[in-house]
This record gives sequence, C-alpha cells and structure tokens, in this order.
Amino acid sequence: MNDRANISLADLDRESLFHPVTSIADLEANGPMIYQGAKGATVTRDNGTELIDMGAGLWCVNVGYGRTELAEASAKAMTDLSYQHFFGGASSEATIRLADRLKTQFNETVAGADIARVFFGCSGSDANDTAWKLVRYYNNLRGKPEKKRIIARKGAYHGLTWAATAMTGIEGYHTAFDAPLDSVIHITCPHHYAFANDGESEAEFTARLIAELEETIAREGADTIGAFIAEPVMGTGGVFVPPAGYFEGVQKVLEKHDILLIADEVITGFCRTGNWFGSGTYGMRPDIVSLAKGLTSAYFPMSASLISSRIWKVLEGASPEMGPLMHGYTYSGHPVGSAVAMANLDIMEREDLAGASARLGPVLKDALTEAVGDNPYVGNIRNSGLMAAVEFVSEQEGRVRFPAGTNPHKVVAKHCLEQGLISRALPFLPVTSFSPPLTITEGEITEAAARYGRALKAAMPELDALR
Ligand SMILES: Cc1ncc(COP(=O)(O)O)c(C=O)c1O
Repeated sequence: MNDRANISLADLDRESLFHPVTSIADLEANGPMIYQGAKGATVTRDNGTELIDMGAGLWCVNVGYGRTELAEASAKAMTDLSYQHFFGGASSEATIRLADRLKTQFNETVAGADIARVFFGCSGSDANDTAWKLVRYYNNLRGKPEKKRIIARKGAYHGLTWAATAMTGIEGYHTAFDAPLDSVIHITCPHHYAFANDGESEAEFTARLIAELEETIAREGADTIGAFIAEPVMGTGGVFVPPAGYFEGVQKVLEKHDILLIADEVITGFCRTGNWFGSGTYGMRPDIVSLAKGLTSAYFPMSASLISSRIWKVLEGASPEMGPLMHGYTYSGHPVGSAVAMANLDIMEREDLAGASARLGPVLKDALTEAVGDNPYVGNIRNSGLMAAVEFVSEQEGRVRFPAGTNPHKVVAKHCLEQGLISRALPFLPVTSFSPPLTITEGEITEAAARYGRALKAAMPELDALR
C-alpha cells in the first residue's frame, strides 16, 4: 500500500473512483476538482482557491457549511446511541421527536395539509421510490390493482434510483439504462417563458396544460393512473416557477379522478422558496411529500416521506390482514441523522431562514439582472425565494435557442470557476441555477452576481462562435 502515498490524489481518484453524473472521458482527460474545506457560503479547493458556492452543494447545504452545532449534535448522538433500527416497532427518541416536528410543521404551514405519519429513508431518490411503492400498495389494498402509473412532467428531476429515474423527465438520465418508462407518462413542462406558444398569456398557458392533463387521463384511463408527481418549483429542470393557477387547476383534475398528488419537496422543502415548504408557497395539498437535502442541510444523508391521513387510514385498516408493511431500510430513522436534523431545524427557526430566503431572493434576482440583464444572450432571469435562474437564448426575438448540443451555459460555468464562483449548468435547458446557502449575506450575493457578470463577459467570444 505504501507506494500509493506517492501518487497524486488526482491520479488516485482517476484510478479508483467512479463518479456520479460525470463524463468518464472528461475525468480521465482533466482529472477531478478536489475540495478541502468550506465555511458559510465559501468552499476551498486543494490549491487554496476560494469559491462562493452559489449551489449550496446540490441545493442542499441550507444552513451553510461548517456549523459546529451540527458537528456537536452528531458527536453526542454517536456517543449516546450510534445506531438503532426501526424494524418491528423498535424506536428512539430523536427520531420520534423529529417525526412529530415534521408532521406538525407541515400541517401548520401548508394550508389544507393533513399529514398523518412520517417515514424515514436516506436520499431524495429513495423517498420518491417509497412514494411510488406506497401508491401501488394503497391502490392494491383498495382493490384497484390497475391504478398504478404515474404522471410526471418533462424536465422533472426526481432522482436516479430505478423508479425515480423513470419519473425523472430529462432524457439524458434515461439513455441506455432501460428505465421502466412504460409506467410513467410525461406531460408538458409548466415553464411559460420557454414552452408558451408565441403570444400565449400565462393564463392561457395554464389552461392549455390543465386541458392536456384532462386529455391524458381520459386517453390513458383514470383507473390506470395512481399519482401525479411534481416539484413545487422544478429545480434541476431549470428553476421553473409554476404559472399562476397551475396547481389549483391540477388538483381539481386529480381530485375528480381519484389520483394522488406527490409533492417532491427535496429541493423546495426547508425554506428554499421563502416558506418552510414549497407546497405552502404554491397552494399544493399533497397526499405524499418527499423531503431530503435541507432536512439535515446535507450534514447527514436522510430523507423523509410524509403520508396523508387519506393513505394512512387505508394502510392502518388493512394492517391486521396484511401483516407487517414490508418496506424500509437499515438506516431508516437513523438516530444520528435525526439528532442532526433536529439541530438543523433549530438553526433554521432561530435564524428565520424562511424569512431570509423570502427577503434575499429578490436581492439575488436584482443583482443578477443588474450584472447580466442586458446581455443579448440572457433571455430570462427568475427566482422563487433563494433559487434563481438565468436562461440563455441565441436571439431574444422568438426565444431562439443555441444549436442543439452547444451548451452555452456550460461555457459560462467554466468561466465562473475562473472568477471564484460555483454556479450550476443544468441538464435540461441552457440555464445557470443559483441556490446558495440560506445564510448567505447580501454582500456575498452582490459579489457573486458581479463575478457571474465578469464570467459571462469573458465567455462572450465563445458564445458568439456557438451560434
Ligand atoms: C426534486 C428532487 N427530487 C429528488 C432528488 C434526488 O435526491 P437524491 O440525490 O438525494 O437521491 C433530487 C436531487 O437533486 C431533487 O432535486
């Protein structure tokens, strides 16, 4: 083993690691980008370069990096009860308190919510797999064994486990994986700027999308559709804020056809959109809610699935006959994760991060508009709380896109790194996303926007050449 000490970390990485969502060819050619530390909204590379992390990792480090309170909470939990499973009715205090807190918080902050129970997992993807399994279980128990397929939207990101991959509506994630796509129907992405017809108002766009949902259900048969899954604001797709009236219309249709609503709040949960939950911001009354990321601010891998009374009553009623509900994971309800989540939620409450997100979201949007709003290739700038986006077009008139495969936003992202900024180039539309820690300061936002402006300016000759 000793001879390995002489090999650079970059080479060891290339020889030993299999990275998620990474081009193997690019990694072999360019090597990894290695980070060694982070504090607040700033991350530090192994060469000492500091970058403002306008992604908060993957939309997840909501309370910022390096919070000692969370380290202390986890050290105490590891010392007191490092592990306890939850199978067969086993339980432990932090997890019991966390379940009660999440249930109460959701019911109190989302109008019309009726959450009855909380189930824990390890990732956003597994929460969505849990959701789909529960939809199937619920409808089997109700004697509706055909009512199982899912309606999702194009541009949706629901994760990359087997079922979540199929619900994800971005083709790149499906290629060559043979995901079970025949069980999912993807309908139009509710992003007015890019997908409205020329001259179509937001209200007309919403009406068209609701009519499409009705037609889809009529065509496929309501007795074959178990649930509709939606992110309140679509994140990875491109920070798509739903058009006015969208979820109101969707929910009327779902209720009429006895179709469940799954809210994928993996990004929007825990203050990202300016409220505790995106369901509250956008008037959703979900039957199942998937939470992860901000639940622990990514200090511990943990997800939660909130389950409404409507579903719970069916599961409870059938229990004597069904026996144990045979779903769960070794790490479901992990006591260390639960303690970290409790400490993380304490910080969010004490520092009013929902308020911070509501207040700083417009600051971020204005700063981006000031920095790049008059650039000829910037078609649209938008935000929902502290998630924001810059969308690129090659011509404003007619919202003309750059030629397929040219990826102007990836060119800009490369220049961002040179300016000391991490922003994300998304995989569905040419969009740069910004979702900083909710603890970011106004000064850091202004600085990040200025760096983004300089990066875009530096990228202009390359963008001109792409058209
Ligand atoms: C909306 C949404 N759902 C699900 C997931 C999957 O979460 P994970 O990567 O923890 O499995 C993500 C991850 O980005 C997400 O943004």
